[in-house]
Amino acid sequence: MGPVDLKKIISVVGARPNFMKVAPIHDVFRKHNDIIHHMICHTGQHYDDQMSKVFFEDLELPQPDFYLGVGSASHAVQTSSIMIEFEKVIIQQKPDLVIVVGDVNSTIACTLTAQKLGVKTCHVEAGLRSFDRSMPEEINRILTDSIADLLFVTEKSGLNNLQNEGVKSERVHFVGNVMIDSLNKYLMKCYASQIHSRLKISKKDYVLVTLHRPSNVDDKDQAIKLINLLNKVSEHKKIVFPIHPRTKKNWTEFKIIGLLSGNVIITEPIGYIDFIALLRDTALVLTDSGGIQEESTFLGIQCITLRNSTERPVTVDIGTNHLLGNDLHKAALKAQEILNGNIKNGSIPELWDGKAADRIVKIIINYLR
Ligand code: UD1
Repeated sequence: MGPVDLKKIISVVGARPNFMKVAPIHDVFRKHNDIIHHMICHTGQHYDDQMSKVFFEDLELPQPDFYLGVGSASHAVQTSSIMIEFEKVIIQQKPDLVIVVGDVNSTIACTLTAQKLGVKTCHVEAGLRSFDRSMPEEINRILTDSIADLLFVTEKSGLNNLQNEGVKSERVHFVGNVMIDSLNKYLMKCYASQIHSRLKISKKDYVLVTLHRPSNVDDKDQAIKLINLLNKVSEHKKIVFPIHPRTKKNWTEFKIIGLLSGNVIITEPIGYIDFIALLRDTALVLTDSGGIQEESTFLGIQCITLRNSTERPVTVDIGTNHLLGNDLHKAALKAQEILNGNIKNGSIPELWDGKAADRIVKIIINYLR
């Protein structure tokens, strides 16, 4: 037998929603460690233990091979710092491929860096479009997809969007959703979570809330409207509100956190297993997150999305997501309706079957041959 041609691959993680997307890909690569050396680079975009370390533990991810430690900053400073640091890693390691996931600043920064050094890249969760260019994530998605070599798509809308943008079909692969791979794998573990007793709440008798989009939490007037909505919903059910660092920082500065009613339980950000346990047993989730729209559709949990657009339309078309935009009066009425039992039955989108990472790795191995 000739010498084995070991291919080097670096996957990039930076922010909280990246960890559960890379974990299943890493798992599958481990089975192919005779031909693939898979490494993880953490840019340090998120650095608090509750935004990062706890996810490595919960998702059984190894310590990252490279930690860039860029931290928080303006978009330009954060993106460019990641590029400067990631360039050093690429020059030193000369990988055969870089994998990026999602739509955060780390995603575009590392794609651009690798491409400029002639390193092939692939984008997991490609093709999603909100068609709202005021979202930083939309800019990151469009730019990443336009330069990455391989595009892995989670839902059919992504195929249409890429086709409409003139992307050649050879670059595009419909593989399903790696985040659902993680959810599938860890769902059983959630039964051991103590989070409900810790928060003194009963299953199905609370509403889960997450809010962190700049459009919702960076503006004081909008924040106060959201607080009024939460207070209204909390007249009927307790609310559990794990508060994102961005939201906490802004709402503390605005001095408005105290306006939340006593029926709103505010917690620190919550780790992966405990969060899934909360999501699986909530009566309803109110959110502006992207990933939670997908996780709630998979779990059959009613979700009210407090945004004007979604880049994940399948969750509205066939899932349990209700896109209610900025009409918070309408959102309050919808929440009431749902809590009264008037729910939308959903189904699980195609290929959200826990095997997306297997498909991705198979395509990558063929591609690198
Ligand atoms: C980022 C992503 C967003 C994703 C979100 C998930 C971009 C453009 N945005 O937004 O798409 O949905 O992560 O959480 O990449 N902070 C901490 N500790 C941390 C991280 C952040 O205190 O570990 C605080 C800092 O004050 C920081 C602020 O949160 O300035 C915002 O963090 P940043 O990474 O800029 O963006 P996110 O709002 O988290």
